[in-house]
Amino acid sequence: AALTPVPRSLEGRHVVVTAGPTHEPIDPVRYIANRSSGKQGFAIAAALARRGGRVTLIAGPVDLPTPANVVRQDVQTASEMAKAVEAALPADAAVMVAAVADWRAADISAQKLKKGDDAPAPLRLARNVDILATLAHDRRRPRLLIGFAAETEQVLDHAQAKRRRKGADWIVANDVSGDVMGGDSNTVHLITADDIESWESLAKIAVAERLADRIADAL
Ligand code: CTP
Ligand code: CA
Repeated sequence: AALTPVPRSLEGRHVVVTAGPTHEPIDPVRYIANRSSGKQGFAIAAALARRGGRVTLIAGPVDLPTPANVVRQDVQTASEMAKAVEAALPADAAVMVAAVADWRAADISAQKLKKGDDAPAPLRLARNVDILATLAHDRRRPRLLIGFAAETEQVLDHAQAKRRRKGADWIVANDVSGDVMGGDSNTVHLITADDIESWESLAKIAVAERLADRIADAL
């Protein structure tokens, strides 16, 4: 069903959106990843563009079509995503929807790892850069910085702490203990400095439309 037309409330604004998982290579044929489908982030990029915003969508590896009027840049790793975000600045707002891998393999093997006859070698991990927290302290920090928080327990407490710790203006908290990842609907809480708004369970497209309206109001 076609969406009803909306006012061009984001005309002249630039918004950066990150979406999808990242893939962190272990060797030429293996990687660390997560279950993010990218659907929520792509829907947000589409909703922002529908309102006339200039949207840069930095996408991890997902199998989704590019939304209309969105400039998309594909990346694989957290480190590539961080560079792409920096290169996309300045922006009026950034919405960090990507499920960025927290760790990468400390050493990437140039050749396929062989299983051999011995006990498996432990996989050594290194911490990835926190793209959202880095952007929060950037001199080109967007005026409105929005993070997502996927939690499986103590959703509101963890998300409120995350908002402060990372220096985001808003956090969209979602409970991923059910089948949210990959599914078409989402139950979220919009956490701001002084308020928590709990939205009813909505299609990801509806979450995106509502969030885009809130972003337009705030800008
Ligand atoms: N994020 C990011 N860069 C990272 C990790 C996370 O930009 N390396 C962003 C996500 O895009 C999201 C927000 O930070 O907007 C919260 O991600 P989340 O994984 O929930 O937070 P973490 O700080 O990684 O905490 P946790 O230990 O719960 O994974
Ligand atoms: Ca994380």
